[in-house]
Amino acid sequence: MSEIELRNVGKSYGSLSVLDDISLDMGSGEFVVLVGPSGCGKSTLLRMIAGLEDISAGEITIGGRIVNDMPAKERDLAMVFQSYALYPHMKVADNMSFALKLAGVPKDEIKRRVDEAADILGLGHLLERLPRELSGGQRQRVAMGRAIVRDPRAFLFDEPLSNLDAKLRVKMRGEIKKLHQRLGKTTIYVTHDQTEAMTMADKIVVLNGGKIEQMGPPLELYKNPQNLFVASFIGSPEINLLRGEVDSQALKLADGARLPLPPGHGLADGRKLVYGIRPQHIHLADSGIAADVMLVEPTGDAQDVMLRIETTDITMVLGESALLQSGAKLTIGFDTANVLLFDDKTGGRIQ
Ligand SMILES: Nc1ncnc2c1ncn2[C@@H]1O[C@H](COP(=O)(O)OP(=O)(O)O)[C@@H](O)[C@H]1O
Ligand SMILES: [Mg+2]
Repeated sequence: MSEIELRNVGKSYGSLSVLDDISLDMGSGEFVVLVGPSGCGKSTLLRMIAGLEDISAGEITIGGRIVNDMPAKERDLAMVFQSYALYPHMKVADNMSFALKLAGVPKDEIKRRVDEAADILGLGHLLERLPRELSGGQRQRVAMGRAIVRDPRAFLFDEPLSNLDAKLRVKMRGEIKKLHQRLGKTTIYVTHDQTEAMTMADKIVVLNGGKIEQMGPPLELYKNPQNLFVASFIGSPEINLLRGEVDSQALKLADGARLPLPPGHGLADGRKLVYGIRPQHIHLADSGIAADVMLVEPTGDAQDVMLRIETTDITMVLGESALLQSGAKLTIGFDTANVLLFDDKTGGRIQ
């Protein structure tokens, strides 16, 4: 059974529609990531699930009950915000226990739950500190501790790692995943960062302009994006997208460059389309397409190489091999089995 269900949910502010016809099932224990560019409606959707925002259309069900008119505090969900939203004048222990005190939970029980959450999050030695005496990562952990002690039905996270530096973000990403594995709670996690979505989610929901573009397991979205938006949003470095027209076994670009099409593609000559090839699916070859190296970015085990074919710039990721130099001339080949083709008008995937 689905733990949280959205049926044709919509949100408007006056005549401005910000979410339209959102339908979505979240299974019990599932880790669902809502991802999309800034302003696409992620926070609004999360706040509607939490009960912090009215819904304008449709139905939200939690644990089999319609909650459209149920106040936030009765929904049994705990939310963690980007801003942490800690009480600055309260010690860590009091920040974590505040909601339980309000709810009239007995003192012994509060202590037991706070100690347990502090143990899980490694906050035991910080319980007597004030928020201003903590680092960003520690504050975010306190915010999570405050959610854990409530033992809610589900966790909602709104960009919880955006205020942390890159290294800490990666560490906390792992911690949130581990926490999810340990507690097994349904989790909805909002981010604009496709890497967080790819690495954390059981299911990714890609939002754009208030609509769902596609949802599915991370690798499914990576391998089988249904449209140009999802293809370019998921994956790093970004997929190469090139416009051209079919000319027998190749796609001919405006500058005359010819890119290999998958064998047996069945497309009529002259058809205009968008050709997608991920940087990981381009390799060095003995014969193939001539390219000039414009720029090389070493990433450690690999290098991101910006190439120019005729007048078209593309990116290739090259694994173990000698570092290339800009100005070098290469011959490259494409893994045609991994080429993704899209209609040039609708942006929809051509199968
Ligand atoms: N109270 C409001 N009144 C009018 N427009 C709003 C309000 N809150 C959010 N919006 C608009 O709704 C859209 C989605 O916002 P939001 O959910 O915060 O996006 P995201 O979290 O994906 O960045 C934005 O265009 C934003 O300007
Ligand atoms: Mg937001």
